[in-house]
Amino acid sequence: MTTLLELLEQRPKMRYIFTGGKGGVGKTAAAAGLAYYLASKGDRVLLASLNPVHSLSSLFGQSLSGGKVIEVKGAKNVHAVEVETSEVVERYRNSIRGRVKEFLKWADIPLDARPFIEIATTNPAFEESAMFDRMVDYILKEGESFDRVIFEEEVRKDPLMADLISMNERFEKAKGVLVDPERTAFFFVTLPLALPIAVVRRFIGMVQKFNIPIGGVIVNEILRPEVALQTGAGEYLANKYHEQTAYMKVLYRDLGPLVRGYIPLYSSEVTGVEMVRRVSEDLMSYTPSFAAELAGAA
Ligand SMILES: Nc1ncnc2c1ncn2[C@@H]1O[C@H](COP(=O)(O)OP(=O)(O)OP(=O)(O)O)[C@@H](O)[C@H]1O
Ligand SMILES: [Mg+2]
Repeated sequence: MTTLLELLEQRPKMRYIFTGGKGGVGKTAAAAGLAYYLASKGDRVLLASLNPVHSLSSLFGQSLSGGKVIEVKGAKNVHAVEVETSEVVERYRNSIRGRVKEFLKWADIPLDARPFIEIATTNPAFEESAMFDRMVDYILKEGESFDRVIFEEEVRKDPLMADLISMNERFEKAKGVLVDPERTAFFFVTLPLALPIAVVRRFIGMVQKFNIPIGGVIVNEILRPEVALQTGAGEYLANKYHEQTAYMKVLYRDLGPLVRGYIPLYSSEVTGVEMVRRVSEDLMSYTPSFAAELAGAA
């Protein structure tokens, strides 16, 4: 089983890193922990949130909003940006408007462009396409001045986006980067619970279908036995601990070789640089006591 630390050493050119998973499993915390680790090794890191609801500010305990790249205070070499959805959508709508008009002119079609633009830009998938387009910018432009670019949001997929990809040469270039296992890795974040594990299983199939290279699985919020099973901890925690162990068995059975790292459940939320530093350290070194035993049995 390759650990996260080993994987990062094996693939030093891994520049584009994604964390994906079900809502609330710790995608942002894991991405920030990774960013902090790589930055502590001297890399210039860009951590980009493409989520309409941002959490980088609260995670680092400082304001990182406004859509600009900001260096995180107290975390040297970590640069963060919370991409503003409304801004991106507006800019994208203007560029689509231009392209549709140009096309109608080029094809000599004497039609009013407005209905076409209306249809193209009020599509429910439009926002997602706009954000994807912005992500491509980070990969091909802004990302160039960073050693690592980490996105804390999953890449979704839809037919409109597929059209755009084939339409646009820029996307072809981005695609070349995104399917290169030397340069890109997609990490799945999960909790040791049935539903998020099922989501990861489904996501893996999807990601494979699009040839996106898989980095592996990060398991978050692991209960430590010395906490959960100590005298006085109560039956609830002990039950939770055994429940997690049972789900970990399932995870090792189904996806064992892909498990890369673990984050324990902390006694408080992940807020502030000191907590992010802890996540980064645990991601690289923490091994739950049951891991060796269960992985061996799988
Ligand atoms: N190991 C942990 N121990 C304690 N709290 C944690 C841990 N990991 C994450 N949290 C807390 O759980 C909440 C969700 O984490 P996070 O924001 O990283 O998840 P997410 O998958 O990015 O969520 P979303 O889908 O909303 O973007 C946050 O309040 C975070 O501080
Ligand atoms: Mg998040």
